[in-house]
Amino acid sequence: MDRLIVTGGARLSGRVRAAGSKNAVLPIMAAALLADGEVVLRNVPDLRDVATLALILEQLGVVIHRDGDVLRLRADREGPCEAPYDLVSTMRASVCVLGPLVARRGHAQVSMPGGCVFGVRPVDQHLKGLNALGAGIRVEGGYLLSDVGRRLHGAHVFVGTRFGPSVLATANTLMAAVLAEGTTRLENAAMEPEVLELTDALIAMGARIHGRGGHTLEIEGVACLHGAEITIGGDRIEAGTFLVGGAMTGGDVTVDGIDPGHLTALRETLGAMGAKVTSGSDWMRAEGPARLEATDIATLPFPGFPTDLQAQVMTAMSVARGISVVTERIFPDRFMHVAELLRLGALIRKEGPQAIVEGAARLSGATVMASDLRASAALVLAGLVAEGETEIRRVYHIDRGYERIDARIRDLGGQVRREAQPRLEQSRKQW
Ligand code: EPZ
Repeated sequence: MDRLIVTGGARLSGRVRAAGSKNAVLPIMAAALLADGEVVLRNVPDLRDVATLALILEQLGVVIHRDGDVLRLRADREGPCEAPYDLVSTMRASVCVLGPLVARRGHAQVSMPGGCVFGVRPVDQHLKGLNALGAGIRVEGGYLLSDVGRRLHGAHVFVGTRFGPSVLATANTLMAAVLAEGTTRLENAAMEPEVLELTDALIAMGARIHGRGGHTLEIEGVACLHGAEITIGGDRIEAGTFLVGGAMTGGDVTVDGIDPGHLTALRETLGAMGAKVTSGSDWMRAEGPARLEATDIATLPFPGFPTDLQAQVMTAMSVARGISVVTERIFPDRFMHVAELLRLGALIRKEGPQAIVEGAARLSGATVMASDLRASAALVLAGLVAEGETEIRRVYHIDRGYERIDARIRDLGGQVRREAQPRLEQSRKQW
């Protein structure tokens, strides 16, 4: 397992291009299971999660060719229908092969994804949506099983909990509904940009979906979908991570290849903290002051503040002037980064779904452990403002969702190097 060594003190400055969006490309890859014909995806990021889902799809009989950032996928109507535990358990998003499998093949055997480092990750809303369409999914031996053996039917379904929408449950239900007989009215649909990208990809494949980008989607089922060529949009969360890095190091970072409309909540937050944020049609720029000011955030469904940028902004708060309050309303346990930030000298007190962050004059380097991929990226940012060296272990978490993060941070003037796991640890493991 690699580790990253970050040396503090540099300002991040310069331009970087956002890679293709991880959370858009994953469900769209799964959607290829629905099409009679080749689906060509462009601007596909080079991520572990993409490789993992490709492995799962190949086990489902999908023929996949990768050529640089182009992925070609072709899936027959017949084929294997089992997505195994050893792969699904490493990446929760693989649960979104469930809807396409049931819709196109009438059968599915998909391992339940299990939890992750920030708590229980239920799939009840996925089952509610798919079973409303007649999927007849049952849970047995840790697997989600369906042997419906016939075409699904349209339904009127409210997907997502009473506390808010579910991104992947929306994706799963939407992908199943496009091939169902009749019309489906999907209420409480998630409005995240990644769901809109999936909607547009399905429309390009011949699906009939009305209300794109809204909370209510009307889907007229069709008998089959055809192939299509789709370009994946820039990753708003990766972009936001670099922008936070620029703002908190007193730097000046511009990220190209994104839709600034996807980052309005971050723009408001960084502006409230004293950064100067400007943007154009496909770029956003953050110029940091000598020291940021404290502010408060609460994570919410889009267009509210994204939970996937919570750890990164908390890291910026940990060296800002004043006291900030972070409220996590999507995943109340998503605070794995707090313990690691404390090791760097941050002054943070967790109170249930809230964290109180008192801005420290400085952080000091230490060895820390990566956990969920966004928390891990936040530790890289923390290392940039900590005195001395910060060693981040279990870097594979970061590689799941960030393309060559060390090289890209170096391109912006940050001091980061990647090293293989120390020999001592290897010998201990052999013993
Ligand atoms: C997607 O996860 C993203 N993952 C997450 O990004 C992101 O944090 C999350 O949406 C919220 O925006 C991908 O797109 C691959 P949810 P998802 O269902 O769909 C509850 C990253 O770092 N819920 O929108 O799994 C759930 O517990 C990842 O890139 C149920 O109760 O999240 C949470 O409280 C991390 N039952 C809320 O809904 C369900 O069946 C929203 O979760 C499903 C969800």
